[in-house]
Amino acid sequence: MKAELEAIQTEVLEQLKQIASSDELETLRITYFGRNGKLTDVMKGMGSLSKEERPIVGKFANDVRATLTEAFEKTKTALESQQQEQQLKDEAIDITLPGRKPAYGKAHPVIQTLERIETIFTRMGFQTVTGPEVETEHYNFDALNTPIDHPARDLHDTFYLTDGQLLRTHTSPVQIRAMESQKPPLRIIVPGKAYRVDYDVSHTPMFHQVEGLLVDKHVTFSELKGVLVSFARQMFGDQTQMRFRPHFFPFTEPSAEADISCTVCQGKGCRSCGHTGWIEILGAGAVDPEVFKAVNYDPEKITGFAFGMGVERIANLQFRIPDIRTFYENDLRFLQQF
Ligand code: DAH
Repeated sequence: MKAELEAIQTEVLEQLKQIASSDELETLRITYFGRNGKLTDVMKGMGSLSKEERPIVGKFANDVRATLTEAFEKTKTALESQQQEQQLKDEAIDITLPGRKPAYGKAHPVIQTLERIETIFTRMGFQTVTGPEVETEHYNFDALNTPIDHPARDLHDTFYLTDGQLLRTHTSPVQIRAMESQKPPLRIIVPGKAYRVDYDVSHTPMFHQVEGLLVDKHVTFSELKGVLVSFARQMFGDQTQMRFRPHFFPFTEPSAEADISCTVCQGKGCRSCGHTGWIEILGAGAVDPEVFKAVNYDPEKITGFAFGMGVERIANLQFRIPDIRTFYENDLRFLQQF
């Protein structure tokens, strides 16, 4: 039995040298010290020894057990410190590496243009106001002198909601809201979103407009021209020419559309301007007396002018992209160019 114990001790000490993980160590422990372990088995056989032999072999067995227990502990400690070192190595941070830069966002190209337009009018003394995108027929049409049979009221252009509400088709309803809440004089611009059932290379169902409204005593059409020419030159350069063509809008009388000299060919005529040398950028006019009546202003005492422009169109004159729908496809490769 002594020889057996000695063999076990040598065996275990030998195997401990090969142990590489705490799992392996545990398996080895169970193999020898477990309930049916090899050492446990030998100890169980002690009962069959004689009275004289038992204390001697017993002491020997205890010594073997103590030696092995100590060897196990040592291996365990060694494994643990090895593991810790490995972990420190794995999780090491190289503080000499350059930091990772956060990705900076920036304003969408259409918003960049919108902000430029706003800045120019702000310098001319216009105050920025905003209004709701969900509007009523009253503000979007009726109060703007747009009769029920006007083509702009056609279902094809307007997104109608329930309860007589709709998505505003232009920023003009904010003219009405502003005049209802303020007394003249008024000098405002209204940047914002508008919606129409429209989708092609130059139209998206949601787009941006900037509306302008100036109301006071003795406001003239030539002042409207002065403001818009000044705007166009600040926006597109000092050489920009502007022309006004007669047009019709229900809420202005007289009305005009304003063109600027083509930014690509400087008015000589090219593909961008359809070989006319001119590009339309906005609608404008003298506020119709009917609109003043709708907000209880006295058209005998008060005059004014208004204008409205599409921001995507102006952004496109600056950035020249073939299809304005790409503004809203959220392709970062496209957007990061601006
Ligand atoms: N609301 C018009 C549109 O969406 C643009 C416009 C034209 C606005 C003339 C005005 C204006 O204020 O006077 O097409």
